Amino acid sequence: MKKLKVGVFGIKRGATFAHLFDMNPHTELSAICDADELAVKQFLGDRKEVAVYSDYDKFLEHDLDIVVLCNYCTEHAPAAIKALNSGRSVLSEVIACKTLAEGVELCRTVEKTGKHYMLAENYCYFSYTQEMKRLYEEGVIGEYLYGECEYVHDCRPIFHLLTSGKDHWRNWIPATYYCTHSLGPIITITKTRPVKVVGFVVPNKLSREVGRVGDDWGVFVCIMDNSAVTRVIPWSTGPRDSIWYRIHGTKGAMENNRLRDTDVLNIFTIEATPELEYKENEKSYRPEFRKYQEEARKFGHGGSDFFVVWEFVDSIIKGEKPPIDVYMAMDMTLPGILAYRSAYMGNIPIEVPDFRKEEVRKQYENDHWSPDPKDKHLPNQPTPSVLGEIEIPEEIYRKLDEKRRKVRMEYEKAIEVDKGAKD
Ligand SMILES: NC(=O)c1ccc[n+]([C@@H]2O[C@H](COP(=O)([O-])OP(=O)(O)OC[C@H]3O[C@@H](n4cnc5c(N)ncnc54)[C@H](O)[C@@H]3O)[C@@H](O)[C@H]2O)c1
Repeated sequence: MKKLKVGVFGIKRGATFAHLFDMNPHTELSAICDADELAVKQFLGDRKEVAVYSDYDKFLEHDLDIVVLCNYCTEHAPAAIKALNSGRSVLSEVIACKTLAEGVELCRTVEKTGKHYMLAENYCYFSYTQEMKRLYEEGVIGEYLYGECEYVHDCRPIFHLLTSGKDHWRNWIPATYYCTHSLGPIITITKTRPVKVVGFVVPNKLSREVGRVGDDWGVFVCIMDNSAVTRVIPWSTGPRDSIWYRIHGTKGAMENNRLRDTDVLNIFTIEATPELEYKENEKSYRPEFRKYQEEARKFGHGGSDFFVVWEFVDSIIKGEKPPIDVYMAMDMTLPGILAYRSAYMGNIPIEVPDFRKEEVRKQYENDHWSPDPKDKHLPNQPTPSVLGEIEIPEEIYRKLDEKRRKVRMEYEKAIEVDKGAKD
């Protein structure tokens, strides 16, 4: 069978996907698109067979079957819509969309084109989140009652590398938006979807230190469609990182370790005899992947990136629904947007719409509510922080620019040395 041709848009995070599609037996990397010449050089090395573009529309003119979106986090939906409309299947980095109106258009476009769309939510594919899913499906902990999930990642020490200037999305994205790494696994494990959300933020105190005008922490609580409750911490800024999932069911509970050895899973079960004697069981272990163990471990994020690509390609080859389809992508993304709306409006509860239904989507097709500074010209837009406009001294951005410039010069030098050694 002819290999499917893949194009990657955004070659920083995208470099991982480019390598993964290259080693998949059904696909090959054909083109990349990035306006950052250094990122392109770093990725390409000696490769000559990959076409390079700096303009997305031109890139879409290339002969491609699959487009992988690793461009700016808040610009995925318009890029996905263009790619789908041009007949390509799309694997999109998180988050799926910036506004509810974009989400509506994305769902309609997937339906209209009939092409494959998958959200690349890799945290659902850690060895321990896959194991939690398997155990849940086996009924080990019974029905989902309550869960907690968090992705605390204090990026301040590397913020100069993660941003490219003042307007970069990481500087303004509200504290609740980047929520799929935490909420995503809860959804894939329990197969529930959020129906209502209440959001909170811890206002900007630390983030301004590195030029961020969004708030420090987000916290939101979701009521799920089986009336379970989930407490979510999306990407938040503060000391002590934590990637953690805890799920309580009617027959037991499971969680990974929280602070160290985080891929160790702890399972607890409780069972009553007819005489109401309670039997409790507990075990802890480090689960392995059940397939592709060796291949997966070579790739990023504990091997999870490998499975995203494998499952997406598999769904195309077999003509099946991708495991994280556009509707599940909405279930993972919309609560983060609406949690900020809730926090912004004084922590009011807000319904999370189900975009599987066109009559529901219709109500949100003009919902362009957005804290993106680029959308300021539209009426009644929120600020990225609940505190309003945060003034950052230009000196901060100057310092970050300087740090970034130094690192980039070192990268340039390393590329030259490497090239010299090969010549
Ligand atoms: N799932 C994960 O574990 C994970 C990890 C890191 C990043 N991400 C996601 O990957 C995406 C990219 O993040 P990143 O860390 O690579 O940083 P980034 O967002 O700064 O990089 C985006 C890249 O795309 C290029 N780009 C963006 N718009 C462009 C345009 N219109 N034309 C040409 N080039 C353009 C930029 O030059 C840049 O190199 C984000 O959505 C982020 O959320 C996910």
